[in-house]
Amino acid sequence: MRLGNAKDIEEMFNSISSNYDLLNDVFSFGLHRFWKRRLLDILNPSFGERWIDLCCGTGDMSILLARYMKSSQNIIGIDSAAQALLVAKERSKQNYSSIKWINGDVIETNLASNQFDGFLMAYGLRNLASPYAGLREAFRILKPGGRAGILDFRSFQEPSIQGLFQKIYLSLYVVPISSLFGLGKEYSYIKKSLINFPSGEKQIHLALSAGFKKAKYRTLAMGQMGVLLLEA
Ligand SMILES: C[S@@+](CC[C@H](N)C(=O)[O-])C[C@H]1O[C@@H](n2cnc3c(N)ncnc32)[C@H](O)[C@@H]1O
Repeated sequence: MRLGNAKDIEEMFNSISSNYDLLNDVFSFGLHRFWKRRLLDILNPSFGERWIDLCCGTGDMSILLARYMKSSQNIIGIDSAAQALLVAKERSKQNYSSIKWINGDVIETNLASNQFDGFLMAYGLRNLASPYAGLREAFRILKPGGRAGILDFRSFQEPSIQGLFQKIYLSLYVVPISSLFGLGKEYSYIKKSLINFPSGEKQIHLALSAGFKKAKYRTLAMGQMGVLLLEA
């Protein structure tokens, strides 16, 4: 598994797609739903707006978005892993069938510019071959004044208690449990993906250089998660 290699990442997410949701709940003790909901409360997407969920995976954030907006019209979820999108399609077909699922690369979406009122990205940025290129593309498809939120793990470049906690959590909880599902190698990628991942001020700087007018960074989950809030 090569760090930041788009093909390897696509294969990895295809291979874990059937266990992804269960493991997400186990690893976050269900709290990822609360963090995603918190992101929606901050951004307050409203009925009639056009939103896109970048790196939507199995689609839970897109569905939360549809619930929040009380409509699944005007929502797109995009992901490079076709197997994850099959799960998304299946779980949305009954009540959220208007969500449009696109199998594509968020670094080069081929979508028209300036068309979305907002975008979300949960646990995607860290996995991109170039987070900067992903932010540039996201900025391009957003309308001027459009808003966005990116949720991901925080990375800790300097030694800290929170960084130590993260190492222990990933090495002694996430990897052993995922190994029980035969996915230890896949889930040990989280630690690798955090090595050069920018957090806090660095993420703000990256977003501003990608074109965003405003960028703020907040932390959640006692500092383990970060939310980048953007305005185009
Ligand atoms: C950790 S999962 C997050 C899924 C979902 N957003 C969630 O919160 O559960 C990361 C997702 O990013 C997708 N991804 C990674 N690189 C991508 C790219 N360049 N274009 C589109 N999707 C990508 C993966 O296929 C995977 O589904």
